[in-house]
Amino acid sequence: MTETTLRATLTPVSSTTRVLECATDEIGEVAAGVVATAIAARSMGVLGVATGSSPLALYDALVRHRGAGLRTDALRLFALDEYVGLDAADPRSYAAYVRSMIAGPLGIPNDLVHVPSGSTDADGAIYERIIAEAGGVDLQIVGIGRNGHIGFNEPGSDAGTRTRVVELDQSTRRANAEHFDGDLAQVPTHAMSQGVATILAARRIVLVASGAAKAPALRAALLGPVTPGNPASFLQLHPDVTVVADHDALRENR
Ligand code: GLP
Repeated sequence: MTETTLRATLTPVSSTTRVLECATDEIGEVAAGVVATAIAARSMGVLGVATGSSPLALYDALVRHRGAGLRTDALRLFALDEYVGLDAADPRSYAAYVRSMIAGPLGIPNDLVHVPSGSTDADGAIYERIIAEAGGVDLQIVGIGRNGHIGFNEPGSDAGTRTRVVELDQSTRRANAEHFDGDLAQVPTHAMSQGVATILAARRIVLVASGAAKAPALRAALLGPVTPGNPASFLQLHPDVTVVADHDALRENR
């Protein structure tokens, strides 16, 4: 197991959150080690997956674990969020991301892959029901937005929120415009996102973050007050959170 050879260091933040600090190019392997250990402990698991660039190295490393014999093809996947108005066939959709970056490489069949869809809160309630029927999420992977969002729970999202339609912050749309030819006008204005309560209902949470741009939001999430102003701060309320982050993302935590 490569985890023991990595230079991750453990930084205690709160009694329920542990931080594995490592080099940028080690984040994927360290985080995948946590996820793979959890998968190996069960014959069948429910994995919550985030999109974005932060977890890509984790998924790559998980595929290497699969190559080394880890059984991943029976995992049931639940994505955090999806843009409203993008068809699942659209390559810019999160459904496409989940298929091509996660489910395909891990050998997971389509009927075990769930991504929020639709454009009404009633569609969100259906997604909540499907998660509940699956027995809930065993381990949820999350990234963090520069404004502290998790999933697409923008600042102002409170601890009781469930899967619903959300309006995206302008800053979030600008940050994600790179995936839309750099054209802000093409970035959807709304998304369907699991709520804070949905995310906190997962039995374990692994947050991955890298780069100095995430440092202020990560610091506020880990050490600041628990507030809707930084939805990631609600993770402090969860009993089992592991943060895997590089030195730059944790720079402001010292
Ligand atoms: C996106 C996604 C989030 C993601 C976050 C950070 O907009 N909705 O699920 O965690 O923003 O993205 P990245 O990892 O690319 O910085």
